[in-house]
Amino acid sequence: MATLLITGAAGRIGTALRPRLLAAGHDLVLLDERTPDDPVVAGERFVAGSVNDPAALDDALAGVDTVVHLAGIPTEAAWNDLLAANLTGTKNVLERAAAGGVLRVLLASSIHAVGRVPEPLDEPGSVPGDRLPRPDTYYGVTKAGMELLGSLFADRYDMSIVSARIGAFGEQPSSSRALLMWSSPDDLARLVLATVDLREPGHHVVWALSRNTGSPADLTAGERIGFVPSDDAFHALDPDARADLPPEDLRFLGGEMVSLPLGRSTS
Ligand SMILES: NC(=O)c1ccc[n+]([C@@H]2O[C@H](COP(=O)([O-])OP(=O)(O)OC[C@H]3O[C@@H](n4cnc5c(N)ncnc54)[C@H](O)[C@@H]3O)[C@@H](O)[C@H]2O)c1
Repeated sequence: MATLLITGAAGRIGTALRPRLLAAGHDLVLLDERTPDDPVVAGERFVAGSVNDPAALDDALAGVDTVVHLAGIPTEAAWNDLLAANLTGTKNVLERAAAGGVLRVLLASSIHAVGRVPEPLDEPGSVPGDRLPRPDTYYGVTKAGMELLGSLFADRYDMSIVSARIGAFGEQPSSSRALLMWSSPDDLARLVLATVDLREPGHHVVWALSRNTGSPADLTAGERIGFVPSDDAFHALDPDARADLPPEDLRFLGGEMVSLPLGRSTS
């Protein structure tokens, strides 16, 4: 049994991971600026605060084995806001984790770090999990930067760090692009559990995706660290539901984000 700190635990992904990680036998510390909607249950401790507050981080990190760093702005936004939440926040989490001897960290990177790669979406397995970044937005730049911070801290402090390129997260695939790039809650939990089991220092950039039929994502980088996704967006929906999915721009991995005005908040 391990104790995991989830930053941004009140968000969509944190909320979905909590029951799955508790069911796997782990204790959780939940850090967020806002109180989670779902009640805090046995095996969980909530710390209210920001990843940009070192005291809150030190409180949250006490007794923790592995950090799941989700806190941040999850879409395009103003440059300074993205820098503060996504890059400075990540730097702070890694600094305080290293100082506290917490040496395993999963960083929530994104498909948008590679949203503009030119590889064809209809060629299965054409994009490796650790492909060189080619971001589609300022948001994607902060996720690529997050991965570089992961590399730096793994090298400096012998940490085991997974930069997880999450795709279209949801209980069900919700667009035509998600059929190829869905990240199911169960598969994200599997990636967290693989991270908990890491013993060797190093930085691993991997697809945090399900095993989606026909996907351009090559899942072997994740498999090398023991992440074996088993959901498939194609089989998660019946044929009628698949046919009803809203179409999405499929020229690039980043979908519609590739055409958003840079720096304009979408929320
Ligand atoms: N949802 C997706 O499809 C998706 C895809 C790729 C990557 N990601 C990444 O995964 C992470 C989680 O995404 P989500 O969909 O759950 O987002 P979300 O917006 O639902 O949750 C983010 C949480 O972080 C908290 N937060 C923001 N700034 C904070 C700060 N400075 N200190 C403490 N808490 C802070 C928010 O209060 C919120 O509860 C994000 O980093 C996002 O970029 C998400």
